[in-house]
Amino acid sequence: MTDHPDDLSFLSPPGQVADWRMMVLFDAVAGAGVFAELPGTADDLAAALGLDPHALRVALDALRAWGIVERDDGEGRYAIGPQAPSPGATAAIRQHARAVRRWSASVGDRLRGVADDRAAGTLEPEVFLDALAEAARSTAPQVVDLCLTRFPRARSVVDLGGCHGEHSLEFARRGLQVTMQDLPTMIEIAQRRGRLASAGVELFAGNFFEELPDGPFDLVFCAGITHTFDGDHNLALYRRLRPIVNARGGIAVVTFLRGRQPLADLFAVQMMVNGNGGDTHAEADYRAWLTAAGFRVDDQPVDLPGRGQSILFAT
Ligand SMILES: C[S@@+](CC[C@H](N)C(=O)[O-])C[C@H]1O[C@@H](n2cnc3c(N)ncnc32)[C@H](O)[C@@H]1O
Repeated sequence: MTDHPDDLSFLSPPGQVADWRMMVLFDAVAGAGVFAELPGTADDLAAALGLDPHALRVALDALRAWGIVERDDGEGRYAIGPQAPSPGATAAIRQHARAVRRWSASVGDRLRGVADDRAAGTLEPEVFLDALAEAARSTAPQVVDLCLTRFPRARSVVDLGGCHGEHSLEFARRGLQVTMQDLPTMIEIAQRRGRLASAGVELFAGNFFEELPDGPFDLVFCAGITHTFDGDHNLALYRRLRPIVNARGGIAVVTFLRGRQPLADLFAVQMMVNGNGGDTHAEADYRAWLTAAGFRVDDQPVDLPGRGQSILFAT
């Protein structure tokens, strides 16, 4: 039986990555609905879920190697094992399996100039959202601390592309008035789950290239969105944001900066295979776009150790 590494995401530090075999098997078995049906024999589970009993037995037996399931050797019944991942870790593993598939299928194509233009979050939005939430839960308090140290008078914030809402929730805990914007699919998930509304976060559904909440806001918070777009989109976004930033506030761009931390360069692969024009843009690019949009960028980015990301503040 093998312990899992601490970081089950595809952005764990080089050399500390989780076992790809476990992730691919776990994702397939989870996606087929098997864990929710356990305990049961392979035949019973396969009959209930419309699966191939031989393939299911092979996959479940293999997952025993990580303690994710266990089998009663007498009756041949499978049950959840002692090392089964938590819901948050489940999301990280399932998103990791998607990265394995995407990287193995697409990097070679990309080298030959062939792009897959399906954005990462559009295929199974809840797996994507839960995986990002798992990563953000551990970093959001530090990120929000840094924002409020930089803008101590901030009372209102808009969390653009807020997705899971972990940053919005952390801002709300600090007493700020929070608006979270995302595309309608993500806002519908947030509304259905209810956590954000009950914490007082106002939800705004809409494409931020077309509409924005009125504001103005003391802080415009852009985490994890700018690297998913090319330079033209970044510049257009900052120009749209300028009028909704209050005089006493500013903008925080949380992103991977090319060449600044090793994980940023790894993350560029994920942006490349997403085929949406995203990239780990260089600090100089962000400076040029933000300046052209009328912002004054702080002299130095602030690094978030361990995640490969940095924050650029501007007023
Ligand atoms: C990579 S996620 C980042 C989530 C979160 N901010 C974080 O840091 O973990 C990007 C989010 O931006 C949203 N998004 C992408 N394009 C958008 C647009 N044009 N308008 C509004 N939201 C958008 C996506 O739906 C997704 O939830």
